[in-house]
Amino acid sequence: MNDRVEPAFLGHGEEDSNPSSNPTFDSVVQARLSRRSLLRGGVGTAATALLGGLSLAACGGGDDEPAPAAASTGTLLGFAAVAKSLDDRITVPAGYTASVLLALGDPLAAGVSAFRNDGTDSGYDRRVGDDHDGMEYFGLSTTGTPDPASSARALLGINHEYINQLFLHPNGPSPNPRPAGETDIEVDAHGVSIVEIARSGSTYAYVQNSTFNRRITAATEIQFSGPLRGHPLLITKFSPDATRTRGTVNNCGTGKTPWGTLLTGEENWTGYYFRAAGDQALRTAKANTALARYGRNVTATAAAASRYGWETAGAADKYARWNTSVTGATPADDYRHEINGQGYITEIDPYDPASVVRKRTALGRMAHENAAFGKPVAGKPLAVYLGDDARNEYIYKFVSTDNWVAADATAPNRMATGDKYLDRGKLFAAKFNADGTGQWIELSMANPTVAGFAGYAFADDGDVLMHARLAADAVGATRMDRPEWCAVAGSGEVYFTLTNNSNRRLGTVTGSQLNPDAANPRVYTDIRGASTVQSGNPNGHVIRLRENGGEPAATAFAWDIYLFGAEAGSPTNVINLSGLTSDNDLSSPDGLVYTPSTGLLWVQTDDGAYTDVTNCMMLAAVPGTVGDGGPVTIDYGASGTVTTRAGRKQTATTLKRFLVGPVDQEITGLAETPDGKALFLNVQHPGEETPFSVIGDPGKYTSHWPGNAGYGPGGANARPRSATVVVVKNDGGRVGT
Ligand code: FEO
Ligand code: CA
Ligand code: CA
Ligand code: CA
Repeated sequence: MNDRVEPAFLGHGEEDSNPSSNPTFDSVVQARLSRRSLLRGGVGTAATALLGGLSLAACGGGDDEPAPAAASTGTLLGFAAVAKSLDDRITVPAGYTASVLLALGDPLAAGVSAFRNDGTDSGYDRRVGDDHDGMEYFGLSTTGTPDPASSARALLGINHEYINQLFLHPNGPSPNPRPAGETDIEVDAHGVSIVEIARSGSTYAYVQNSTFNRRITAATEIQFSGPLRGHPLLITKFSPDATRTRGTVNNCGTGKTPWGTLLTGEENWTGYYFRAAGDQALRTAKANTALARYGRNVTATAAAASRYGWETAGAADKYARWNTSVTGATPADDYRHEINGQGYITEIDPYDPASVVRKRTALGRMAHENAAFGKPVAGKPLAVYLGDDARNEYIYKFVSTDNWVAADATAPNRMATGDKYLDRGKLFAAKFNADGTGQWIELSMANPTVAGFAGYAFADDGDVLMHARLAADAVGATRMDRPEWCAVAGSGEVYFTLTNNSNRRLGTVTGSQLNPDAANPRVYTDIRGASTVQSGNPNGHVIRLRENGGEPAATAFAWDIYLFGAEAGSPTNVINLSGLTSDNDLSSPDGLVYTPSTGLLWVQTDDGAYTDVTNCMMLAAVPGTVGDGGPVTIDYGASGTVTTRAGRKQTATTLKRFLVGPVDQEITGLAETPDGKALFLNVQHPGEETPFSVIGDPGKYTSHWPGNAGYGPGGANARPRSATVVVVKNDGGRVGT
């Protein structure tokens, strides 16, 4: 979910994508070819395969056909870079094929009707949900038991972050009070899908009737686990003993545990809850501080509106729970604490459709992106890296109390293994120092700085975990440019995308603005379209760290900045510090996944800054090492200088664009088969900028993908659908070689 999506809390489609003033795809390609012709004497290398049809094999055309890609065991990044594109389709390199595996609404059980895609479908608790995001791969043996080595059969765990609301109903969403039927559809289109897939010919297909298929939605009963289970701040009318809640919402990034379960991060959940004007007068000052810090401030006259108005759909408890205001005599009489039940890393056992889902509260409550494990080492604790995606929020690490036992990787009771490693441990927040070092600072009542924080009187360790942002405020952790995904490379070094921050400023700052610092060093303006000025750090960066001694429980680390997002041709003294070219320039890195089979790091974009020139994309990157570059000083003239630690500059052998998606989407989530020969990725919310007012005029939808590629009904006039795509290399080699 991008910054530009956030105004959906106010209303949809207010920002126009302004295609009229954009260069066409052809003109972009032509300009690129012209530059290449000048530089390289007319030797075109830009030929790419354009996925215009389902499973259309990639084939470069005509005179620009590049040499065949490297053989399957060949060099990394052996493919020809894909050009930036505004086309409403997927583009992959010559020699690769991308196919749609499954999409919004596809049936996940026997007897469920085929998706009509006209807004009349329902029953999303037995269909693929909307707005696919993070994704993990869980191998299955031929007999249906866990098999991490299987590339032929598997389960995919897929997050459904939110909904492309316009296209879920025949004429778009009705205003408040919301009809119950529309609300049920929207609640059920959220959550997580577990879907069986199997190799089929040269590619993969999903299995509609698999008994492993499962939907977890915003209504599924879920248990609290860890320190907050039974905590007074989780008491609700539904659960007076504070042990359970309903639903997981805004599921963004994922994680895969060393014992073979799925972790799902609850991100922008705060906006799902209505809080009434005047509610602040019914709460303690402390409760109001906590609600404000998590985005639900109200006044005597101003309510906090909910994103979808689900609380207006009727008096039934399943709707009333979305009103997190004080309405009853005690917390057990209302849903004042309902909002406290979201914002966790939640664990699901994909191999057991009957297993109980658990919220792992020891990992803190925030706008969770994903959860990435450090390399497990027998006899040492496990480290889990976490990002809180909002402007100026923090990077975190959880360290388990128990040391890793290798046999637990295959222990049959996977959720009990989760209890062991994820319910007991310590949470830390990161502080990045200007000299390239950093500290992990413990967030618990054992830290006097937390226990004595003047800004919020923590009652106990549960209170600290539930309000981890306030605890990180207390210890002076470093406020970052929106931490998104993290990934642990084969070296054990940890990479974090910092997608962008419109609140970085030079000179005097006001409100929530911040000056640049060593770890978030760039402040610049970028022009979008004809004249839209974007300020702060609109293109984002990727920071990385190495734990001291390589220890998961280290409390100190070294860091540098692996990659600065930038438009090719932008000034190299402030913006394009990584030396990006038209073959690898990008803005707003978000998804970030390391694939062990190749050792590549895949960078995915969720961008609103460069989308006048290109749709969102995915690049393949070769990780380096912390310290492979050096100090860089940015001169801001009268505003002084900022010295950062930059990694080595990027080149054609370290970073290359691999895929560009259709219009108004983000590329997110990635999983590979163990043999590295298939990559699965998600296309989220194509056509999202379509104004609500044009629902009756399909010609004005900004995207028709994947219907226009032949997947499902609708063809060139189809409603757009979020989808999972599988990419294979035509010569049978590993993807990214
Ligand atoms: Fe759901 Fe921070 O992206
Ligand atoms: Ca994002
Ligand atoms: Ca620009
Ligand atoms: Ca994201």
